[in-house]
Amino acid sequence: VKRERPADRLVDWSLGEVESVAKARLPQMAFDYAQGGAGPERTLAENVAAFARYRFRPRFLVDVSKRDLSTRLLGRTHPVPFGLAPTAFHRLFHAEGEAGTARAAASRGVVHCVSTLSTTALEEVAQAGAPRWFQLYVHRDRALTRSLVERAKGAGYEALVWTVDAPVWALRERDRRNRFSLPPPLKLANFERYLDKAGGGADGLANYVNSQLDPSLTWDDLAWLKDVSGLPVLVKGLLTPEDAALAVERGADGMVVSNHGGRMLDHVPATLDALPGIVQEVRGRVPVLLDGGVRRGADVLVALALGADFALVGRQAVWGLAAGGEAGVARVLDLLREELDNAMALTGRRSVADVDASLVARV
Ligand SMILES: Cc1cc2nc3c(=O)[nH]c(=O)nc-3n(C[C@H](O)[C@H](O)[C@H](O)COP(=O)(O)O)c2cc1C
Repeated sequence: VKRERPADRLVDWSLGEVESVAKARLPQMAFDYAQGGAGPERTLAENVAAFARYRFRPRFLVDVSKRDLSTRLLGRTHPVPFGLAPTAFHRLFHAEGEAGTARAAASRGVVHCVSTLSTTALEEVAQAGAPRWFQLYVHRDRALTRSLVERAKGAGYEALVWTVDAPVWALRERDRRNRFSLPPPLKLANFERYLDKAGGGADGLANYVNSQLDPSLTWDDLAWLKDVSGLPVLVKGLLTPEDAALAVERGADGMVVSNHGGRMLDHVPATLDALPGIVQEVRGRVPVLLDGGVRRGADVLVALALGADFALVGRQAVWGLAAGGEAGVARVLDLLREELDNAMALTGRRSVADVDASLVARV
């Protein structure tokens, strides 16, 4: 007898199933845009495979009756050591769009990094009241960039996440094949006057980025950004200790070890493999975050064990949004939390501070 569970039918999937639930609900173009990566997608696969190379070394007979998943970052206590990575175009995935994502984040107290390329204006996303950061793409038009930064600050965004790994756009074969574009009436809600450049035709997004974003940026621009924003700036997209050293030297308030989810340049290492060298270089002077390949709560724990202070989740949250709007994102956050808590208890770790390199072994 097949039992119906109407109350939770919408969201009774696990983290292993959410991508396929999303796939069934999305047009091919939207699914491919989110799932795919650059070139032959080797780095995309590597990001996930890297986590499978680590095993836990559980310790027992530790009193784990009381556990605390919270962590301090950028002057705030976060209930869990992970948040939502910036992802573009949420209304492509669900009618609730960025507002739905933000309400889910707010309900769980989880930080939500909102993309420059959101399909809901940053002020409207802020209404949900989630702890929030603003992901910035610096445009050639510095007045426009400055106004984005000022608007974000005015709307209560607590940090800028400056994405530096996209001086030119990626070569994404699936998007080319699908002639990816934002279907009307969706638009880049943060700057309507560039709408025409983003839409339509093969490589619409690439044309937008290549014509509007500034490929001449250098480390000198970090000081400018800190100055005009007055906000902490996390540099997103670093993969080498050399760049991590420069970030610290030039005054970054933190960094995100990221390869854009394998979406910019293929053939770069998995973020988890790039992490330890960067952590060693930074020596705790500023927080080091990681994104890429985090699919499970246990993955967050592996990243923390290898020295990350915090993890960001991209695709899993997008799939949750596609599968169930706000409720779907909330379910993804709850499952990640549940799995992380479970893995901490079963490895004898009571708090994030208890997590160190002795927790994992490479196989
Ligand atoms: C659909 C999608 C859109 C994205 N849009 C942006 C963006 O606008 N800005 C940005 O800095 N990163 C963007 N990213 C990259 C994410 O911030 C993050 O680096 C990546 O998704 C992490 O890998 P994961 O998807 O394996 O968790 C996007 C990723 C996806 C999947």
